[in-house]
Amino acid sequence: MAVADYLVVFTPSGKRGRFATGTTVLDAARKLAVDLDSVCGGRGICGRCQVEVAEGQFPKHGIVSAAGHVTGWNGLEERYAALRGALKSGRRLGCQAEVLGDLVIDVPADSQVHRQVVRKGADSRVIALDPVVRLHYVEVAEPDMHDPASDFRRLAAALAREWQIADAYARLPVLATLQKALRAGGWKVTAAVRDGREVVAVWPGLVDRACGVAVDIGSTTIAAHLCDLVSGETLASAGVMNPQIRFGEDLMSRVSYVMLHPGGDREMTAAVREAVDGLIGAVAAQARVERDRIVEMTAVGNPIMHHLFLGLDPVELGGAPFALTVDSPLDTPAEELGLHLAPGARVHTLPLIAGHVGADCAGMILAEAPYEKDELTLLVDVGTNAEIVLGNRLLACSSPTGPAFEGAQISSGQRAAPGAIERLRIDQATLEPRYRIIGSELWSNEPGFEAAAAATGVTGICGSGIIEAVAEMFLAGIVTHDGVIDGGLAARSLRIIAEGRTYSYLIRDGAPRILVTQADIRAIQLAKAALYAGVRLLMDHYGTDTVERIVLAGAFGSHIDVKYAMVLGLIPDCPLDHVRSAGNAAGTGARIALLNAAARREIADVVRRIEKIETALEPRFQEHFVAAMALPHRSDPFPNLAAAVTLPVRPAGTASGERRRRRERGG
Ligand code: FES
Repeated sequence: MAVADYLVVFTPSGKRGRFATGTTVLDAARKLAVDLDSVCGGRGICGRCQVEVAEGQFPKHGIVSAAGHVTGWNGLEERYAALRGALKSGRRLGCQAEVLGDLVIDVPADSQVHRQVVRKGADSRVIALDPVVRLHYVEVAEPDMHDPASDFRRLAAALAREWQIADAYARLPVLATLQKALRAGGWKVTAAVRDGREVVAVWPGLVDRACGVAVDIGSTTIAAHLCDLVSGETLASAGVMNPQIRFGEDLMSRVSYVMLHPGGDREMTAAVREAVDGLIGAVAAQARVERDRIVEMTAVGNPIMHHLFLGLDPVELGGAPFALTVDSPLDTPAEELGLHLAPGARVHTLPLIAGHVGADCAGMILAEAPYEKDELTLLVDVGTNAEIVLGNRLLACSSPTGPAFEGAQISSGQRAAPGAIERLRIDQATLEPRYRIIGSELWSNEPGFEAAAAATGVTGICGSGIIEAVAEMFLAGIVTHDGVIDGGLAARSLRIIAEGRTYSYLIRDGAPRILVTQADIRAIQLAKAALYAGVRLLMDHYGTDTVERIVLAGAFGSHIDVKYAMVLGLIPDCPLDHVRSAGNAAGTGARIALLNAAARREIADVVRRIEKIETALEPRFQEHFVAAMALPHRSDPFPNLAAAVTLPVRPAGTASGERRRRRERGG
């Protein structure tokens, strides 16, 4: 007599098939390639195969589904519930429930391998979880005098038998832990398998959680995010100053250090690796995760940081033609980089784009996916070297903005730290300033400000503060379109102070005295003109005069007020509500690459298609740079900005006015 078979429909996938009485729900799911997880291979111990049996009539499928259409609770489920806690109401272990009738089976999100990880933020992309490392519990045959197969051969046989993993292999650091793990687990172990073949860790017994870490190696700070590779959740994040700062504040001074000190690259490599390893220890401790459970790492960084971290000499990146040693993504064993993770863990570095445009930019592109958008998007990572990307058809360049935006080269400038002025407004009638410092919510003209500021003092101006100060000075008429502090106003305000042949604006008298000098304005003009000229160059190549959306990335980008950035002409005109800060987009890209193997292939492919523009080789760069020295710009219109802010009347210094003046001067 033929065995009865029943229709089983899985939701949300809609996959369906007919199965004989006694087939487990897990087996049915596997036959239909339904996304239902399992680590223990159906032994009823991992709990990852949980499903819900839908009840009722399903006319669409022509069936009635009921809880009674699967076998009742069995001993293994009882045991699981006793050890790990009761299942949510209505749930069953898919590996234990057997088909007895027609069924509609719902696979909840937490039982799916490829579940979606929703990121915070309105227009952030959703990440589908698909980590490169998966966990597999196996029971390995015990050694036998009559069968000389090695421990690894028997592990590989178990992986092939139970998980269809063919030709598994492992590197020495993993093999070195194998025998102890097998014996400690009584021949029952969990193997972490990378890319469906490479065993990167073997732990005794059942292990149902593995982690990965995404690291953004910035020239100033290093940030790490520890993620659960099963749920996609970020378990802990932390940051630390890049210790290479002691070899040089900015990138070029670090390259010079290598040029002047033989072995300097090795010193810097050791310093950054030690910092990354320490940071991984910190996030692991924060999340109470053993370091050997971290099976994978991804890393992003600008080309010099990338090279130094991998132990590659960065000297060629210090001058034209800025040749990279390697630009493709790499999967380097963690122990070769001095990192203490799972014994076989690898570090995936994202691809580099060009000599100045690094894996951090690749991370930003992956996080923002401008190539998937219809609107023309401009991505800017403002740093000492701004990285700029335009388009859906992608163009990229970098521009040497220098460290002014970080408060360096500014007379009262400082890094963003408690006590630094970060917000500033100027009364246009009296020219009096009011400001806020990091560490206090009060404005300087509010009662209690001095008491609140006493703990830190008012110590200087940080990058976002200097942007606001210069922009407000411009809006108040203290600074002209050409960036000159108007000495004529000294008669009107004691805050305009003569210093030799130029003038300064006094923000706060005291210790220290905080001023914006003419040289400060010049430094900001040079930095913003470099950034704008890079953007313009990409717009020229793209064939557009406007952009539809601007995303500012990086620490600085997340602190500046976009309105002031536009008043200064750091970025081109665009509706203000279409300008957004993306925070650490490079780090987000590293996290996406950690959680989704396909994203790694995607960004490697996208990077190959990017059209790279080398600003140093473009004759028009200088022309754009000069025009961008004016506030907000000598000739480019800013209609969206003008609708939101009352801008000082632009003098006849447009491009045509400029030509006329030159003719009059006989130039
Ligand atoms: S597959 Fe592990 S409990 Fe069902």
